[in-house]
Parts: sequence; C-alpha cells; structure tokens
Amino acid sequence: MRIVVRIGGSVVANPINTQLLAKYAEIIVLLRQQGHEVVVVVGGGALARQFIGFAKELELDMNAQDEVAISCSRLFAQLFLKKLGGYAANNVSVTLEETAECLSRGKVVVMGGLKPGITTDTVATLVAEKITADMLLKGSDQTGVYNKDPRKHPDAVKLDHLTFEELAEVFEQNEHKAGIHQIIDPEAVKILKSKRIKTVVVNGFEPQNMLAAVRGENVGTIIN
Ligand code: UTP
Repeated sequence: MRIVVRIGGSVVANPINTQLLAKYAEIIVLLRQQGHEVVVVVGGGALARQFIGFAKELELDMNAQDEVAISCSRLFAQLFLKKLGGYAANNVSVTLEETAECLSRGKVVVMGGLKPGITTDTVATLVAEKITADMLLKGSDQTGVYNKDPRKHPDAVKLDHLTFEELAEVFEQNEHKAGIHQIIDPEAVKILKSKRIKTVVVNGFEPQNMLAAVRGENVGTIIN
C-alpha cells in the first residue's frame, strides 16, 4: 500500500518526545519492510507556536509567521529522517514533486510544512492526492474524531466511522490562522472530501496503532 503517515506536532513535539520519535522510526521501518511505500509528514508543535509568537511580537505578517513555523516542522522532520538511516531519502522533501520522485526510488520520504497558509494536515492530504495514496493515517493527540470537541465537552462521543460528508459537517468552518490546532484542519477536510482519500485518525501516543490501522483494524476513527 501507499501510505501517508501524519504525526501531529502536538504528539511528538509538545514538548519534543525523542522516545516516541524513536518508536515511530521503528514502526515506519517495519511498514517499509512489509513492502509499503511510506511518506511521513511531521508537524511543528510547540516550537512552531513559539516562533509564531516571536514573529507576532515583531509585528511580522501572517506569511512570515507561517514561514518560521514551517522551518520548525522541517527541523523535526530532519531529526526524524536521520533516525530512519538508509531507509529514508537524504533530505527532508520540500516539494510534492520531490516526494513522488523519492518514493519511486524506494525511499521513505519525510516532510514538514510545504507553504504558508496551510498546516501539515493539508500537506499530508496534498501528498496523498499527488501519490494516489491508499490511506492517510493521522496520529492525533486525541483517540479519534468526536462529535464535538472533547476538550471542551465532557459528553463528546468518539465516532468509529464517518463518511467524508459527515467529517465535513463536524469540521465545518473556517479561514486559516497561524498555529491553528484541530484534529484535522478545515482545508485538509475539503481535500479529503473532494478526492475521497481514506483516512484513519488514531491516538498518536501509541505508535503501534499505525500498524493496526494498516492491518485494517478499527483503532480510532475511519473516514471513507
Ligand atoms: P503544524 O501542521 O506544524 O502543526 O502547523 P502541528 O504542530 O502538527 O499541530 P497539530 O498537532 O496538528 O495540532 C503549525 C503552523 O505552521 C504553519 C501554520 O501557521 C500552522 O498553523 N504551517 C505549517 C504553514 O503555514 N504551512 C505548512 O505547510 C505547515
């Protein structure tokens, strides 16, 4: 299978959790050894938010805020890529074309951010579209998609399965803001819906969920 694995910055980089990153590296290598083609997209987490804060203090515009946040996610991506050793491409991929090309050479591709105005959720969906991925896996700081925000509503219910239309209803809204945190960002939801990319949201703090999801087990929320 062709798989895009999106690891939330809120999972591995809030603050940076090297033990968890190392576990993810093992899991990604295992997926590659099983014959899967894998692209990993890593978020910028607290460091990205911190740099967005610095940029704001300096009265820099949204574009500049996004640019420094992208650099933070690419730094995490580089750290992760190095841990994959020879399984990975030499450098963090910064374009969709480069990603497709490295993948065709049998390498695991690692990316951070791509361009201002989006988040790495959208990067992951753009990659999935580009490489016609069979599955997009998101390791989130929640255990799946809920009918409402579980951090605000204690009675929120986790949904095991959602259609693309239902996903769009849950996340209906909203314009880009630097540093937005949502289980899947609104722009990504639009792409998932229009391109019908199968997506599985799992608890990212348990990396073995990625393996279970690839085996077809329902360990979080399946959107298709
Ligand atoms: P990230 O996508 O790096 O967040 O976006 P994250 O840390 O993984 O967050 P969770 O875990 O999904 O919540 C952080 C910010 O970086 C900028 C945006 O400002 C975004 O809100 N960004 C990121 C871009 O502008 N373009 C990108 O391609 C990626």
